[in-house]
Amino acid sequence: MEFDPYSNEFFNDPFDIYRQLREHAPVYHNEKRNFYALSRFHDVLDASVDHRTFSSAKGILIEDLPPEALEARPMMIMMDPPRATRLRKLVSKAFTARKSVAFEPEIRERARRLVGEIVDRGSCDFVKDYAALLPMEVISSLLGVPDEDRNEVRLRADASLTRDAGSPSLPPAALQAMAEMNAYFTDLIDERRKRPKEDLISQLIAAELTEEDGSRRKLTEPELLGFVGLVAGGGNETTTKLLGSAAVLFWRHQDVRAAMVRDPSRIPDACEEALRYWPPSHIQGRSATRDVELHGCVIPKDSRVLLLTGSACRDEREFENPDRFDMNRKIAIQIALGHGVHKCLGSYLARLETRVAFEEFFARIPEYEVDEEKCERVHMTNVAGYSSVPIRY
Ligand code: HEM
Repeated sequence: MEFDPYSNEFFNDPFDIYRQLREHAPVYHNEKRNFYALSRFHDVLDASVDHRTFSSAKGILIEDLPPEALEARPMMIMMDPPRATRLRKLVSKAFTARKSVAFEPEIRERARRLVGEIVDRGSCDFVKDYAALLPMEVISSLLGVPDEDRNEVRLRADASLTRDAGSPSLPPAALQAMAEMNAYFTDLIDERRKRPKEDLISQLIAAELTEEDGSRRKLTEPELLGFVGLVAGGGNETTTKLLGSAAVLFWRHQDVRAAMVRDPSRIPDACEEALRYWPPSHIQGRSATRDVELHGCVIPKDSRVLLLTGSACRDEREFENPDRFDMNRKIAIQIALGHGVHKCLGSYLARLETRVAFEEFFARIPEYEVDEEKCERVHMTNVAGYSSVPIRY
């Protein structure tokens, strides 16, 4: 059995491969690509919590990142405690449930306007015309990216995560997009230093970090860039993919769609199940800091270890009938949002955006058809979902 996270087969339908891994190779080793993979729910959960053994400090992608890339834009998601915890404390205030709730009217207003632009057309691309636009608007507004730059920023964020099928190396277009993002945000940070506003970038510039020895200091330029890149990337791609996947799932499950239209208070349950069923982020990369023995295998120190969140979400050991889409399912732990010290910082915001996006969509477009033949999937590292979902209504 081969599990190749760069193959077309994996991009298009990984769930069969995951089932085989969970059953026959819960500690899978891919010699060619040089990684181990954990696929069972509790192994992924335990490894996420055990950050001392499964470190994020060499990056969280499938591939190891070169040290210079990690240093150029240090991100807390690619660090271990205590450094990661100190940085997280600094930004977490901006992402509390209360802060997210306060943002709801603006999200609703933006969602309503976007739905208003498509409602009379009779057909559109759910991803390109709605799901890709709303999260970028929301995250840009949070960060302080001017309206006129938002689309460019979104396209670059997309390009920086896109990979060629069959190849683990970073394509030139991805590298270029990363460099352009850095240049763009360097200028924006510079501008906010001169003329601060109410946005997150201005708050981060003003914020002070408390070091281990109690001394306080401002964030460095690379740290600022890291934060901005992380929030722009993490808050954008994932939410877009969840919305697109949910739109297809709701079309396939008309009873679920009808239940939400009848009673919009069911929207969060259906979205939560969509998050489990087709999680936007399938793989969390780690590196082993010591030899680890698990299920009779040894993962040697310094190995790359992939935590297969996408597989954990379908583990029959945790979920009854895991391949059934069931909006009434009680999900005790939503592993699709990660767990442990790096658990998704934007989870309140992501859930809020998803709920509001479908509340506003169903309010104007209660019924739609998806042209599944024409749907297209992304080929991205660590992110899974649709780039195109044509619909008619
Ligand atoms: C449905 C949408 C989302 C999904 C599925 C998702 C998924 C995840 C996952 C799996 C992790 C853990 C990564 C790891 O353990 O290595 C994570 C971390 C993170 N997410 Fe999200 N995310 C979503 C939305 C958002 C949004 C809207 C934001 C920001 C506005 C955000 C910001 C972050 C940040 C900053 C981290 C790193 C936290 C840390 O290292 O302490 N995410 N997310």
